[in-house]
Amino acid sequence: MRVYEEMGRLIQDRWVKYNHDEEAFPELAARVLQEMAPYKGFDPMVPIEWLFSTRAFPRQLTARSDFGQPPITVFSDHRIVIDLYYWLDGTTEIHQHGFSGAFQVVKGGSIHGQYRWNERHRVNGRMAFGDLSLESLNELKEGDVQQILPGNRYIHSLFHLDRPSVTCVVRTLHTPNAGVQYSYKKPFLAIDSTYEDVQTNRILQSLTFLRDSPRAVRKRLLSELIERSDIHTCYLLFKRLLEIYKEETALEEFWEVAIRRHGSLAEQLIPVFQERIRQSMLVSRRAQVKTEEHRYFLALLLNIDGAESLLGLVRQRYPHEDPREKVMRWVEELSKPTDEVGSGDTLGIPLDETALIIFRELLHGRSEAGVMGRLKEVYGADETEREAASIAEMVSALRASPVFRPLFAR
Ligand SMILES: [Fe+2]
Repeated sequence: MRVYEEMGRLIQDRWVKYNHDEEAFPELAARVLQEMAPYKGFDPMVPIEWLFSTRAFPRQLTARSDFGQPPITVFSDHRIVIDLYYWLDGTTEIHQHGFSGAFQVVKGGSIHGQYRWNERHRVNGRMAFGDLSLESLNELKEGDVQQILPGNRYIHSLFHLDRPSVTCVVRTLHTPNAGVQYSYKKPFLAIDSTYEDVQTNRILQSLTFLRDSPRAVRKRLLSELIERSDIHTCYLLFKRLLEIYKEETALEEFWEVAIRRHGSLAEQLIPVFQERIRQSMLVSRRAQVKTEEHRYFLALLLNIDGAESLLGLVRQRYPHEDPREKVMRWVEELSKPTDEVGSGDTLGIPLDETALIIFRELLHGRSEAGVMGRLKEVYGADETEREAASIAEMVSALRASPVFRPLFAR
């Protein structure tokens, strides 16, 4: 653990020469990470052994934190912190930072997305509506270093490909002009998810209790709450309802009152929640997917919105293979109803032989008529015509499927 102590001292020595200017910190931290290279010979068990036995445990950032599995502060003074973040299945939300720093991947690897935010409507200091767009998506490997610029100059998310993935973060305790540490919810929302209002928290907790009460009572209470609340509370309420009921339908009866009260702001929350449902479907599957290639495919489905850019990334990673065939192989492997690939119908959509043929044609951008033409070649004209209705149904089901949307969106 000496390397972190040495890194801490080195940063202290160098930063004081910049009068502790936060603007100078990301570059300085990145250079120290490159020089000291904590990734070299990193053994994930060493910090864990130390955690169990040390009697000089540094002050931690927070007593409780769900960012990291676990997060461990390995060095801290009054200005800087060095953290290790372990990840097994974690996917970080899209977020910005209230500090300056840099990180190095010390174990495993991740898909790293960087985003740009264009604010359209500021609600208050803790919530805003705007457009979030993906600027770049690349892979981070062991030894790679990224600077963390404070505030919305660096908005990112990580999807960890390996179990475990570990990053070493060197950061300021706080950078005063960094502003709120926003989380971003695709496609339209920025929110300070650390904000807590005690009464709202209690109301949200009571929803579990209200689950067993008559529906009319619940509906009245929640509708009245939306009527007299701000849009932030409205968002938290919908989020909690989705956590409890796990169905979009649980929100449906409240959109009308929310839109009446908050107009277009509430309307913009609808796609935010649709995307949230889609993401949690993918993230929950991610835990069952153990091979790196399949994890990579899920990361693409999570992060990429259009077929061309998705296939472009597959081409980049596997330059000697046809990207559409590669995707088809993943889809076939993940939709197998067996445990052969260690996942078993992982995509939640059982795809039989015919469905896979349809899938391949759609992936090539063919129309419904094109799909029919191909099926006639395989099954003959008569049989295909007889099944025309169910084929059309499968075509629309695949196109509308939240999981596969990025593959069929042009
Ligand atoms: Fe981050």
